[in-house]
Amino acid sequence: MKRTRLITALVGIGILLASATVAAAGTAQAGSAKSMFCSGCHGVDGNVTYPSVRMAGQSTQRLGQSLMDFKTGRRFHPVMNILSAGLTQQDMDDLAMFYAAQKPLSLEHASLYWRLGGHDAINAAVDETIKISKADPRLAGRLSGACAPKLKEQLCAATGGPCTYTGRDMKTAHKGLNITNAEFGAVAQNLVSVLDAFKVPEKEKNELVGLIAPMQGVIVGQ
Ligand code: HEC
Repeated sequence: MKRTRLITALVGIGILLASATVAAAGTAQAGSAKSMFCSGCHGVDGNVTYPSVRMAGQSTQRLGQSLMDFKTGRRFHPVMNILSAGLTQQDMDDLAMFYAAQKPLSLEHASLYWRLGGHDAINAAVDETIKISKADPRLAGRLSGACAPKLKEQLCAATGGPCTYTGRDMKTAHKGLNITNAEFGAVAQNLVSVLDAFKVPEKEKNELVGLIAPMQGVIVGQ
């Protein structure tokens, strides 16, 4: 009896820990409050370029990495080394989310997310790709579009935008669907034709395809 209760408690703690890991990702809202301190030098939206480089619209990964590098001393700058010493991982995640969400005044140093046109452009590309794929005879109605919200979130996160992917891992999400290489290829082709129609430059298109292509192995044949 006692043992069962202990196991239940442990499983409970396990679930709590698992959700804590998910919640550990930052939010732009929390980052906004914490950024007051940074705005004197970087500007309220991170668009000031002197004395630093523009933080607005950089990828969450790059911002988080820069802060971690200042904190650990891997990157040297007297002011940032001292300032980052007081930041927790949560602070850095929140600040990275906040600055990644700010519209950059120039696309230099901007994440792929912004170079693709940000939230609206990425979501429109996903919607259009799903629309074309639903009518594509090669897919014979196999794509329902139910995955659209998670797909948008995943692309936002993967391109360095201010999102955290909250869906299942790719292998689990496609279990039992028996997706073929031809089907994966058809959706990828449809995406590329949408990107062309949206006049996405070659560089950005290749970067995006480069993020999606490695997923083929875990999506196909599950
Ligand atoms: C007193 C001025 C000052 C304040 C306040 C300040 N910074 Fe900085 N920050 C700088 C300078 C100067 C650099 C450029 C360092 C370098 O050349 O490596 C920098 C660089 C950075 C970078 C690296 C940007 C890049 O892409 O190379 C990040 C990220 C950053 N700061 C985040 C923050 C955050 C977050 C805060 C608030 C907690 C903050 N800074 C507060 C002056 C400041």
